[in-house]
Amino acid sequence: MPSPIISKEELIPGQTSKLVIHAPHIAAKAEPGNFVMLRVADAGERFPLTIADVDSKEGTITIVYLVMGKSTTLLEELGAGDSILDLCGPLGKSTHIEKCGTVICVGGGTGIAAMHHIAKGHAKAGNHVVSIIGARTKDRLLLEKELSLFCGEMLICTDDGSYGVKGIVTDLLVQRLTQDKNVAEVVAVGPVPMMEAVARTTLPFKTKTIVSLNSIMIDGMGMCGACRVSVGGETKFTCVDGPEFDGHLVDFNELKQRLKAFREQEQVSVNTIKKKCCC
Ligand code: NAD
Ligand code: FES
Repeated sequence: MPSPIISKEELIPGQTSKLVIHAPHIAAKAEPGNFVMLRVADAGERFPLTIADVDSKEGTITIVYLVMGKSTTLLEELGAGDSILDLCGPLGKSTHIEKCGTVICVGGGTGIAAMHHIAKGHAKAGNHVVSIIGARTKDRLLLEKELSLFCGEMLICTDDGSYGVKGIVTDLLVQRLTQDKNVAEVVAVGPVPMMEAVARTTLPFKTKTIVSLNSIMIDGMGMCGACRVSVGGETKFTCVDGPEFDGHLVDFNELKQRLKAFREQEQVSVNTIKKKCCC
């Protein structure tokens, strides 16, 4: 069903945008951790994006995306007043949230947006939420203001030191875990090497660690097997068994290999669309 875009904001010009979409049927049911599948062109692929926020009163959902392939390039051509051709959701299992004390939510780059909805859910449940957010540079750091509205602590880093502490999110995480032995849970969303590094960091502290995986998806409903990952030696489908899993049990090497599967074809597609745009 076509879903109208209410507003668009370029968070990082030419690279990352935020869309608020009128989708009351999704907004009524969406929980932290859920994602949507989008299709933006008639002959286009379906692709997943994690829901960054929901306003059930207004009937809207918010998504934030990094322009990286053909479909997100086409999505970036749309603006307020246009419609998303197909929007299906909410999909995936929602985040398991209970009142448990201190929860550290780690977000890297674009992953900060997906982490935002999860962190908000933990804050609503009465948990003390510590946000650790990191980006390459100050101008790539997303949603700091929005997170600060409900997070008890905000720890910020940039790779180049242009804002916050100079370093990566795991530097801040190890410091925070060393200071406080009573952290109930760590949740991490971002690039796969970051989530792997977070899981490696929390292991010696024996802290429960949840990661939100971004496998390649086709149907998003458990039928095609494209999104399969190995967790604790078992095959799981990210779309219906996840997207969140115990970070200490995920086979990250396999995930990284599988994410490379269509890289050449994706590059050809991106080049074709760029040529068309230039003509
Ligand atoms: P990036 O590569 O710029 O990294 C952002 C921050 O993450 C860095 O500044 C650093 O603090 C941290 N980081 C990165 N690699 C790390 C490592 N090896 N160890 C410790 N910390 C590390 O991020 P980006 O370019 O915005 O990321 C885009 C990627 O994130 C895409 O591949 C996208 O698919 C993925 N993503 C995943 C989800 C998800 O649901 N898991 C959501 C959005 C985006
Ligand atoms: Fe097809 Fe998950 S995307 S099974």
